[in-house]
Amino acid sequence: MSFAAVKFINQKTEELQKKISRTKRTLIAVSGGVDSMTCAMLARKALGGNIIVLFLDDGLMREGEPEEIRKFFDNAGIELQIWDVKDKFFDGLKGKTDPEEKRIVFRDLFYKTLGQAVKSYSVDFLIQGTIAADIAETQKGIKTQHNVLSQIGINPAHFGLKIVEPLREIYKHQVREVAKKLGMPKKFADRKPFPGPGLATRIIGEVTPERVEKVRKATKIVETAITGESIFQVLAVLMSDRATGMVNGKRVYGDIIAVRAVNSKDALTAQPSKIPWPVLYKIRDRILEEVPEVVKVVYDITPKPPSTIEYI
Ligand code: XMP
Repeated sequence: MSFAAVKFINQKTEELQKKISRTKRTLIAVSGGVDSMTCAMLARKALGGNIIVLFLDDGLMREGEPEEIRKFFDNAGIELQIWDVKDKFFDGLKGKTDPEEKRIVFRDLFYKTLGQAVKSYSVDFLIQGTIAADIAETQKGIKTQHNVLSQIGINPAHFGLKIVEPLREIYKHQVREVAKKLGMPKKFADRKPFPGPGLATRIIGEVTPERVEKVRKATKIVETAITGESIFQVLAVLMSDRATGMVNGKRVYGDIIAVRAVNSKDALTAQPSKIPWPVLYKIRDRILEEVPEVVKVVYDITPKPPSTIEYI
């Protein structure tokens, strides 16, 4: 049976209005992904102007992302608050190389910053874009990162938050339908998933502004070269190991970038996409040209499981 997006919107609108009276202030943190943007649009429909939409610019976004998000909300007539928290995140991640430790630092900083936002805007509620797959993966212990605080042993009250998750019963493809019915342009509604901790999930070893910049450039290159509906996600990853290369007749020790593209339905399993060699060559050439510290570009052919889609 097909998913009834309009019915879902009406039902959630009513639910939000019941849970959150219009006199209370509500915060929605948006990341640029379809889940949080859909929440913002649902909240706007249900609660009108009494919402605060906040974007935390943590420095881990893709190229041009903060500007795109600003434009989207300008067009939707929704005021957007932007907090520049780049230094805070880079300071927190400094020296951290263990993948789970990096995720914990990110998560704690993210929620602490949100807690500060809750206080400074005096809001009572926080709307989050948790979807059904996030809950399934967290329950199965596959990931510890997903934004289901109570399930990972964090009491939201410690962060001063009451959390509402209007999308928790539906999956990504259904969120996209809801987004389109709410008037979100296809470009945003059909966006490929991007993880909350951003480019930090694509850096092995320490996350520094310089290393993020390399991944950011490579990400732009792979996302431009590999498109199409059958591709679930495309990524570029910076390794911590380095390799010997030959530049201008001299042996140098440089960076390794892994390129990954996967086909998947729900991110629970994934298969490597068969990318034509000419496309891979073009990616290789551009990465070598535009990220000159790189001496090796490799293509990842591992399925999930046993691999994951991201690298941390
Ligand atoms: P993995 O790497 O576990 O990723 O195979 C499965 C899907 O989840 C995304 N992902 C995340 N999304 N916060 C998110 O919102 C996260 O911390 C996170 N980690 C991974 C990943 O991009 C893929 O689509």
